[in-house]
Amino acid sequence: MNAAFLERAMHEAGELASLPQTLAEVLRVLRDERSSADQLALVLIKDPPLTAKVLRMANSPIYGIGQRIGSMIQAIRVLGDRQVTALALSATVYDLTQDWSSSLDRMRFWRHSLETAIASRMIGESLGRKSTEELFLAGLLHDLGLLVLGKMEPQEFARIWNEAGRESEVVEMEVQLWGTTHAEIGGYLLRKWHLPETICQPVDQHHDGAILDKAEPDLVASQILMLGHMISKFRIVPEKGILNADALLAMESLRLTLGIPAEQLVDIEKELTSTTMAEADYLEMNIGTIDDLLLEANRLLFEQSIAVERLANENRRLRRRLQKQHADTESVT
Ligand SMILES: [Fe+2]
Ligand SMILES: [Fe+2]
Repeated sequence: MNAAFLERAMHEAGELASLPQTLAEVLRVLRDERSSADQLALVLIKDPPLTAKVLRMANSPIYGIGQRIGSMIQAIRVLGDRQVTALALSATVYDLTQDWSSSLDRMRFWRHSLETAIASRMIGESLGRKSTEELFLAGLLHDLGLLVLGKMEPQEFARIWNEAGRESEVVEMEVQLWGTTHAEIGGYLLRKWHLPETICQPVDQHHDGAILDKAEPDLVASQILMLGHMISKFRIVPEKGILNADALLAMESLRLTLGIPAEQLVDIEKELTSTTMAEADYLEMNIGTIDDLLLEANRLLFEQSIAVERLANENRRLRRRLQKQHADTESVT
Protein backbone atom coordinates (compact mmCIF):
# COMPACT_ATOMS: atom_id res chain seq x y z
CA MET A 1 0.00 0.00 0.00
CA ASN A 2 1.23 3.47 -0.90
CA ALA A 3 -0.47 5.69 1.70
CA ALA A 4 0.64 8.99 0.17
CA PHE A 5 -0.63 7.98 -3.26
CA LEU A 6 -3.96 6.83 -1.80
CA GLU A 7 -4.43 10.18 -0.08
CA ARG A 8 -3.63 11.97 -3.32
CA ALA A 9 -6.19 9.76 -5.04
CA MET A 10 -8.82 10.85 -2.50
CA HIS A 11 -7.95 14.47 -3.10
CA GLU A 12 -8.31 13.88 -6.83
CA ALA A 13 -11.66 12.18 -6.33
CA GLY A 14 -12.85 15.52 -4.89
CA GLU A 15 -16.60 15.53 -4.46
CA LEU A 16 -16.72 11.78 -4.89
CA ALA A 17 -14.59 11.26 -1.78
CA SER A 18 -16.90 13.33 0.38
CA LEU A 19 -20.25 12.55 -1.25
CA PRO A 20 -21.82 9.81 0.64
CA GLN A 21 -23.18 11.15 3.89
CA THR A 22 -26.73 10.50 2.71
CA LEU A 23 -25.76 7.21 1.12
CA ALA A 24 -23.90 5.85 4.14
CA GLU A 25 -26.94 6.77 6.19
CA VAL A 26 -29.21 4.95 3.75
CA LEU A 27 -27.07 1.82 4.18
CA ARG A 28 -27.04 2.15 7.94
CA VAL A 29 -30.83 2.38 8.02
CA LEU A 30 -31.04 -0.63 5.72
CA ARG A 31 -28.79 -2.74 7.91
CA ASP A 32 -30.83 -1.93 10.98
CA GLU A 33 -33.57 -4.53 11.10
CA ARG A 34 -35.73 -2.32 13.28
CA SER A 35 -35.78 0.48 10.73
CA SER A 36 -38.83 1.17 8.63
CA ALA A 37 -39.64 2.54 5.21
CA ASP A 38 -40.46 5.83 6.96
CA GLN A 39 -36.91 6.11 8.33
CA LEU A 40 -35.38 5.37 4.96
CA ALA A 41 -37.66 7.94 3.38
CA LEU A 42 -36.58 10.54 5.95
CA VAL A 43 -32.92 9.99 5.05
CA LEU A 44 -33.57 10.14 1.34
CA ILE A 45 -35.64 13.29 1.28
CA LYS A 46 -32.60 15.15 2.60
CA ASP A 47 -31.33 14.84 -0.96
CA PRO A 48 -33.87 16.52 -3.25
CA PRO A 49 -32.34 15.54 -6.64
CA LEU A 50 -32.17 11.92 -5.51
CA THR A 51 -35.73 12.11 -4.24
CA ALA A 52 -36.86 13.40 -7.61
CA LYS A 53 -35.07 10.54 -9.32
CA VAL A 54 -36.57 7.87 -7.09
CA LEU A 55 -40.05 9.31 -7.61
CA ARG A 56 -39.56 9.43 -11.38
CA MET A 57 -38.47 5.79 -11.33
CA ALA A 58 -41.40 4.75 -9.20
CA ASN A 59 -43.71 6.33 -11.75
CA SER A 60 -42.02 4.70 -14.72
CA PRO A 61 -44.04 2.26 -16.84
CA ILE A 62 -41.75 -0.63 -15.76
CA TYR A 63 -43.82 -1.03 -12.62
CA GLY A 64 -47.12 -0.52 -14.39
CA ILE A 65 -49.03 -0.01 -11.19
CA GLY A 66 -51.38 2.46 -12.85
CA GLN A 67 -51.44 4.98 -10.05
CA ARG A 68 -49.49 8.13 -9.43
CA ILE A 69 -46.81 7.83 -6.75
CA GLY A 70 -46.33 11.12 -4.99
CA SER A 71 -44.38 10.32 -1.83
CA MET A 72 -41.04 8.76 -0.96
CA ILE A 73 -42.62 6.21 1.38
CA GLN A 74 -44.91 5.03 -1.37
CA ALA A 75 -41.93 4.88 -3.75
CA ILE A 76 -39.89 2.75 -1.35
CA ARG A 77 -42.77 0.34 -1.03
CA VAL A 78 -43.02 0.02 -4.81
CA LEU A 79 -39.27 -0.21 -5.54
CA GLY A 80 -38.08 -1.99 -2.41
CA ASP A 81 -35.20 -1.07 -0.08
CA ARG A 82 -32.47 -2.72 -2.10
CA GLN A 83 -33.43 -1.06 -5.35
CA VAL A 84 -33.68 2.35 -3.74
CA THR A 85 -30.20 1.98 -2.24
CA ALA A 86 -28.71 0.72 -5.48
CA LEU A 87 -30.36 3.58 -7.31
CA ALA A 88 -29.16 6.16 -4.80
CA LEU A 89 -25.54 4.98 -4.87
CA SER A 90 -25.23 4.30 -8.55
CA ALA A 91 -27.04 7.47 -9.59
CA THR A 92 -24.80 9.63 -7.43
CA VAL A 93 -21.50 8.01 -8.41
CA TYR A 94 -22.59 7.84 -12.04
CA ASP A 95 -23.51 11.54 -12.11
CA LEU A 96 -20.48 12.74 -10.19
CA THR A 97 -18.01 10.99 -12.47
CA GLN A 98 -19.83 11.96 -15.66
CA ASP A 99 -17.46 14.81 -16.54
CA TRP A 100 -14.25 13.11 -15.49
CA SER A 101 -11.90 12.90 -18.41
CA SER A 102 -10.44 9.46 -18.86
CA SER A 103 -9.29 7.14 -21.59
CA LEU A 104 -11.78 4.59 -20.25
CA ASP A 105 -14.92 4.02 -22.28
CA ARG A 106 -17.55 5.02 -19.71
CA MET A 107 -20.31 3.00 -21.32
CA ARG A 108 -18.25 -0.16 -21.23
CA PHE A 109 -17.10 0.63 -17.71
CA TRP A 110 -20.66 0.89 -16.37
CA ARG A 111 -21.85 -2.08 -18.36
CA HIS A 112 -19.13 -4.24 -16.79
CA SER A 113 -19.87 -2.78 -13.36
CA LEU A 114 -23.61 -3.42 -13.62
CA GLU A 115 -23.12 -6.93 -14.97
CA THR A 116 -20.71 -7.71 -12.14
CA ALA A 117 -23.25 -6.34 -9.64
CA ILE A 118 -26.09 -8.44 -11.01
CA ALA A 119 -23.97 -11.58 -11.40
CA SER A 120 -22.68 -11.22 -7.81
CA ARG A 121 -26.22 -10.78 -6.51
CA MET A 122 -27.43 -13.84 -8.43
CA ILE A 123 -24.54 -15.96 -7.12
CA GLY A 124 -25.27 -14.74 -3.59
CA GLU A 125 -28.95 -15.64 -4.00
CA SER A 126 -28.11 -19.09 -5.33
CA LEU A 127 -25.95 -19.65 -2.23
CA GLY A 128 -28.76 -18.46 0.03
CA ARG A 129 -26.81 -15.42 1.30
CA LYS A 130 -28.74 -12.76 3.17
CA SER A 131 -27.13 -9.43 2.24
CA THR A 132 -27.33 -9.74 -1.52
CA GLU A 133 -27.89 -5.98 -1.90
CA GLU A 134 -24.39 -5.50 -0.49
CA LEU A 135 -23.01 -7.88 -3.10
CA PHE A 136 -24.86 -5.86 -5.74
CA LEU A 137 -23.32 -2.61 -4.48
CA ALA A 138 -19.84 -4.12 -4.19
CA GLY A 139 -20.20 -5.24 -7.81
CA LEU A 140 -21.42 -1.89 -9.00
CA LEU A 141 -18.55 -0.05 -7.32
CA HIS A 142 -15.79 -2.66 -7.56
CA ASP A 143 -13.77 -0.88 -10.28
CA LEU A 144 -14.34 2.66 -9.08
CA GLY A 145 -10.57 2.92 -8.50
CA LEU A 146 -10.13 2.73 -12.28
CA LEU A 147 -12.14 5.93 -12.72
CA VAL A 148 -10.04 7.67 -10.05
CA LEU A 149 -6.75 6.51 -11.61
CA GLY A 150 -7.90 7.47 -15.11
CA LYS A 151 -8.60 11.00 -13.89
CA MET A 152 -5.49 11.27 -11.74
CA GLU A 153 -2.84 9.82 -14.05
CA PRO A 154 -4.39 10.09 -17.54
CA GLN A 155 -1.25 9.46 -19.63
CA GLU A 156 0.20 6.57 -17.66
CA PHE A 157 -3.25 5.08 -17.25
CA ALA A 158 -3.94 5.16 -21.00
CA ARG A 159 -0.50 3.67 -21.65
CA ILE A 160 -0.91 0.67 -19.35
CA TRP A 161 -4.37 -0.13 -20.74
CA ASN A 162 -2.92 0.07 -24.19
CA GLU A 163 -0.18 -2.36 -23.29
CA ALA A 164 -2.16 -4.77 -21.14
CA GLY A 165 -5.85 -4.44 -21.87
CA ARG A 166 -6.96 -7.05 -19.35
CA GLU A 167 -7.80 -5.97 -15.83
CA SER A 168 -5.63 -8.63 -14.22
CA GLU A 169 -2.54 -7.52 -16.17
CA VAL A 170 -3.30 -3.88 -15.51
CA VAL A 171 -3.21 -4.63 -11.80
CA GLU A 172 0.43 -5.77 -12.00
CA MET A 173 1.38 -2.61 -13.86
CA GLU A 174 -0.49 -0.46 -11.34
CA VAL A 175 1.59 -1.96 -8.53
CA GLN A 176 4.83 -1.33 -10.41
CA LEU A 177 3.92 2.25 -11.23
CA TRP A 178 2.08 3.46 -8.17
CA GLY A 179 2.61 0.88 -5.43
CA THR A 180 -1.13 0.30 -5.20
CA THR A 181 -4.03 -0.98 -7.33
CA HIS A 182 -7.41 0.23 -8.52
CA ALA A 183 -8.93 -2.40 -6.19
CA GLU A 184 -7.15 -0.90 -3.19
CA ILE A 185 -8.06 2.66 -4.22
CA GLY A 186 -11.71 1.60 -4.57
CA GLY A 187 -11.73 -0.07 -1.15
CA TYR A 188 -10.06 2.96 0.40
CA LEU A 189 -12.65 5.30 -1.09
CA LEU A 190 -15.57 3.16 0.09
CA ARG A 191 -14.12 3.11 3.61
CA LYS A 192 -13.99 6.90 3.52
CA TRP A 193 -17.74 6.71 2.92
CA HIS A 194 -18.11 4.46 5.99
CA LEU A 195 -19.60 1.68 3.93
CA PRO A 196 -19.58 -1.67 5.75
CA GLU A 197 -16.55 -3.95 5.49
CA THR A 198 -18.80 -6.50 3.76
CA ILE A 199 -18.63 -4.15 0.76
CA CYS A 200 -15.12 -2.66 1.17
CA GLN A 201 -13.23 -5.93 1.64
CA PRO A 202 -14.57 -7.66 -1.48
CA VAL A 203 -13.70 -4.55 -3.53
CA ASP A 204 -10.18 -4.63 -2.06
CA GLN A 205 -9.74 -8.31 -2.87
CA HIS A 206 -11.40 -8.69 -6.27
CA HIS A 207 -8.06 -9.34 -8.01
CA ASP A 208 -6.42 -11.27 -5.19
CA GLY A 209 -5.47 -14.65 -6.65
CA ALA A 210 -4.53 -15.94 -3.18
CA ILE A 211 -8.20 -16.28 -2.17
CA LEU A 212 -9.29 -18.51 -5.08
CA ASP A 213 -9.28 -21.78 -3.19
CA LYS A 214 -9.45 -20.72 0.45
CA ALA A 215 -12.58 -22.11 2.08
CA GLU A 216 -13.05 -19.45 4.77
CA PRO A 217 -16.41 -17.85 5.65
CA ASP A 218 -14.85 -14.36 5.79
CA LEU A 219 -13.74 -14.64 2.18
CA VAL A 220 -17.03 -15.77 0.63
CA ALA A 221 -18.28 -12.27 -0.29
CA SER A 222 -14.92 -11.46 -1.92
CA GLN A 223 -14.96 -14.75 -3.83
CA ILE A 224 -18.50 -14.10 -5.03
CA LEU A 225 -17.52 -10.63 -6.29
CA MET A 226 -14.43 -12.04 -7.98
CA LEU A 227 -16.52 -14.68 -9.76
CA GLY A 228 -19.19 -12.09 -10.65
CA HIS A 229 -16.50 -9.86 -12.16
CA MET A 230 -15.14 -12.83 -14.14
CA ILE A 231 -18.45 -13.93 -15.63
CA SER A 232 -19.36 -10.40 -16.67
CA LYS A 233 -19.69 -10.58 -20.45
CA PHE A 234 -18.13 -7.19 -20.88
CA ARG A 235 -14.49 -6.34 -20.91
CA ILE A 236 -13.58 -2.74 -20.22
CA VAL A 237 -11.38 -2.76 -23.33
CA PRO A 238 -12.90 -5.10 -25.94
CA GLU A 239 -10.02 -5.83 -28.34
CA LYS A 240 -7.63 -6.92 -25.64
CA GLY A 241 -10.06 -8.87 -23.53
CA ILE A 242 -9.22 -12.37 -24.73
CA LEU A 243 -10.25 -14.91 -22.16
CA ASN A 244 -7.38 -17.27 -21.45
CA ALA A 245 -6.97 -20.68 -19.87
CA ASP A 246 -5.72 -19.14 -16.59
CA ALA A 247 -8.94 -17.16 -16.24
CA LEU A 248 -11.04 -20.28 -16.87
CA LEU A 249 -9.09 -22.23 -14.26
CA ALA A 250 -9.49 -19.38 -11.77
CA MET A 251 -13.26 -19.33 -12.39
CA GLU A 252 -13.49 -23.07 -11.92
CA SER A 253 -11.47 -22.87 -8.72
CA LEU A 254 -13.81 -20.18 -7.35
CA ARG A 255 -16.90 -22.17 -8.35
CA LEU A 256 -15.61 -25.24 -6.51
CA THR A 257 -14.57 -23.26 -3.42
CA LEU A 258 -18.01 -21.64 -3.25
CA GLY A 259 -19.73 -24.97 -3.94
CA ILE A 260 -21.88 -23.79 -6.85
CA PRO A 261 -23.09 -26.54 -9.21
CA ALA A 262 -21.82 -25.96 -12.76
CA GLU A 263 -25.38 -25.92 -14.20
CA GLN A 264 -26.37 -23.19 -11.79
CA LEU A 265 -23.55 -20.96 -12.96
CA VAL A 266 -24.54 -21.58 -16.58
CA ASP A 267 -28.13 -20.50 -15.74
CA ILE A 268 -26.82 -17.31 -14.13
CA GLU A 269 -24.71 -16.55 -17.20
CA LYS A 270 -27.73 -17.10 -19.45
CA GLU A 271 -29.94 -14.72 -17.50
CA LEU A 272 -27.30 -12.04 -17.10
CA THR A 273 -27.80 -10.16 -20.38
CA SER A 274 -31.55 -9.65 -20.16
CA THR A 275 -31.48 -8.78 -16.46
CA THR A 276 -28.68 -6.27 -17.06
CA MET A 277 -30.65 -4.52 -19.80
CA ALA A 278 -33.77 -4.29 -17.66
CA GLU A 279 -31.95 -2.96 -14.60
CA ALA A 280 -29.87 -0.45 -16.59
CA ASP A 281 -33.09 1.01 -17.89
CA TYR A 282 -34.46 1.32 -14.45
CA LEU A 283 -31.25 2.78 -13.01
CA GLU A 284 -31.10 5.21 -15.96
CA MET A 285 -27.62 4.07 -16.91
CA ASN A 286 -26.41 4.28 -20.48
CA ILE A 287 -24.83 0.90 -21.12
CA GLY A 288 -25.51 0.45 -24.84
CA THR A 289 -28.11 -1.60 -26.66
CA ILE A 290 -29.21 -5.21 -26.31
CA ASP A 291 -27.46 -5.89 -29.66
CA ASP A 292 -24.15 -4.67 -28.21
CA LEU A 293 -24.63 -6.90 -25.22
CA LEU A 294 -25.54 -9.98 -27.26
CA LEU A 295 -22.65 -9.42 -29.64
CA GLU A 296 -20.27 -9.26 -26.71
CA ALA A 297 -21.84 -12.33 -25.09
CA ASN A 298 -21.31 -14.31 -28.30
CA ARG A 299 -17.74 -13.10 -28.56
CA LEU A 300 -17.08 -14.26 -25.01
CA LEU A 301 -18.57 -17.69 -25.75
CA PHE A 302 -16.24 -17.94 -28.73
CA GLU A 303 -13.24 -16.94 -26.60
CA GLN A 304 -14.33 -19.42 -23.98
CA SER A 305 -14.48 -22.29 -26.48
CA ILE A 306 -10.97 -21.44 -27.73
CA ALA A 307 -9.66 -21.34 -24.16
CA VAL A 308 -11.31 -24.71 -23.38
CA GLU A 309 -9.78 -26.18 -26.54
CA ARG A 310 -6.34 -24.91 -25.48
CA LEU A 311 -6.79 -26.38 -22.04
CA ALA A 312 -7.78 -29.75 -23.51
CA ASN A 313 -4.70 -29.73 -25.80
CA GLU A 314 -2.47 -28.87 -22.88
CA ASN A 315 -4.04 -31.69 -20.91
CA ARG A 316 -3.45 -34.21 -23.72
CA ARG A 317 0.18 -33.08 -24.08
CA LEU A 318 0.75 -33.47 -20.37
CA ARG A 319 -0.81 -36.93 -20.31
CA ARG A 320 1.37 -38.07 -23.25
CA ARG A 321 4.47 -36.77 -21.48
CA LEU A 322 3.56 -38.60 -18.29
CA GLN A 323 2.92 -41.84 -20.22
CA LYS A 324 6.29 -41.48 -21.95
CA GLN A 325 8.07 -40.82 -18.64
CA HIS A 326 6.33 -43.85 -17.18
CA ALA A 327 7.38 -46.05 -20.12
CA ASP A 328 10.98 -44.77 -19.90
CA THR A 329 11.16 -45.57 -16.19
CA GLU A 330 9.77 -49.06 -16.81
CA SER A 331 12.32 -49.80 -19.52
CA VAL A 332 15.16 -48.72 -17.20
CA THR A 333 14.02 -50.90 -14.29
FE1 LIG B 1 -10.93 -4.61 -11.19
FE1 LIG C 1 -13.91 -5.63 -12.99
